[in-house]
Amino acid sequence: MNSFDVVILGAGAAGLMCAMAAGQRGRRVLVLDHANQAGSKILISGGGRCNFTNRDTVPERFFSENPHFAKSALRRYTPADFLGLIEKHRIAWHEKTLGQLFCDGSARAVVAMLLAECEAAGVVIRLNHRILDVSRAERFRVDTDRGSFEAPAVVLATGGLSIPKMGATDLSLRLAKRFGLALTPTRPALVPLTFAGEDLAMMQPLSGVALDSLARCGRGSFREAMLFTHRGLSGPAILQVSSLWREGEAITLDLLPDTDALAFLLERKRTRPRAELRTVLAELVPQRLALALAAGATRPMAELPDRELRRLAELLKNRRLLPSGTEGYAKAEVTLGGISTTALSSQTMEATAVPGLFAIGEAVDVTGWLGGYNFQWAWASGWAAGQAL
Ligand code: FDA
Repeated sequence: MNSFDVVILGAGAAGLMCAMAAGQRGRRVLVLDHANQAGSKILISGGGRCNFTNRDTVPERFFSENPHFAKSALRRYTPADFLGLIEKHRIAWHEKTLGQLFCDGSARAVVAMLLAECEAAGVVIRLNHRILDVSRAERFRVDTDRGSFEAPAVVLATGGLSIPKMGATDLSLRLAKRFGLALTPTRPALVPLTFAGEDLAMMQPLSGVALDSLARCGRGSFREAMLFTHRGLSGPAILQVSSLWREGEAITLDLLPDTDALAFLLERKRTRPRAELRTVLAELVPQRLALALAAGATRPMAELPDRELRRLAELLKNRRLLPSGTEGYAKAEVTLGGISTTALSSQTMEATAVPGLFAIGEAVDVTGWLGGYNFQWAWASGWAAGQAL
């Protein structure tokens, strides 16, 4: 039997950060993962450049049944702390937009950095290990297809359910449940929305068209790019509202967030009376969308009644759409819900009723906005547990 101070299940963002932090404090750390490489979601993140944190991280940009839970960890390990690590490893980075920090080069550098820190801290990482069972007597025992390991502490860090094709599983949720920890319902988030009927028929020919927009759902609104797809809508603004959307609810789109559309159309009717509607609309939105909105109208602006322009302005500024669903875990960047925060200490991520059992990262019911927030939660929760192990 291999004995350690802690066994971490999952060599992803949170697991590697936790391993590094605990290793640096002199703990004998084992990380187990069923995949053949560590940090596979880091590698594909941010279009291969890893949006590794967000400068504007505040607890309000995370969803959880308990919105206060993330505060302590986020305060103790900040975006500046992670940036310090990035700079220590001389990884070139840039701020893209809205506080989002990306690598200039490949996301591989972030994984290499975490692995180098783990190695320096004496962490043992074993990949290609299928976890068969976790039990607890005096110590925890982790049985795998390649041997058994024991430790006084186990960390659940196998992430969320999104992208099962890449090896995402519900292991942390199943184990948490088995040890009596409460779960909150899970659902795909940061995910494209699908549509049916007339809405889909309108969207499909526009597939590939992107534009700035203000997307709203319930109490949230996001000003970012959106994209028409062959199944509906995607792009950052839509991914953001998808985390708020629930079945049966509508979303509302403002396709011209900086423009008073009615004033613009009335002004053009006066100053460009001979112009066709599609030509005028193409001043504001991509040409294919302008064509679709004009819907074959070839009369000059002067001949369009004001009520018609008012209807069009309403469509541009306040379009209410009813999604039929989402593209599901196959396309979701993250999972909402998970191990209930009521079961965990917000200081240490340890299960209050099961000493020695910890849960971190996306497996926990804390989900960030798009834009580096989810990695910041992975780093912060991993670091918090690492200080307590
Ligand atoms: P993570 O998924 O990183 O790690 C879990 C680990 O557990 C994996 O190594 C997995 O192999 C392993 N595992 C799972 N089941 C197991 C089992 N049964 N047995 C053993 N091992 C198991 N966030 C962000 O902030 N900025 C970004 O740019 C992006 N971009 C992005 C793109 C895409 C396409 C996706 C899908 C997601 C993102 N994210 C993101 C989200 C981000 O990747 C995610 O929130 C973190 O990786 C979560 O870190 P965790 O360590 O919790 O899980």
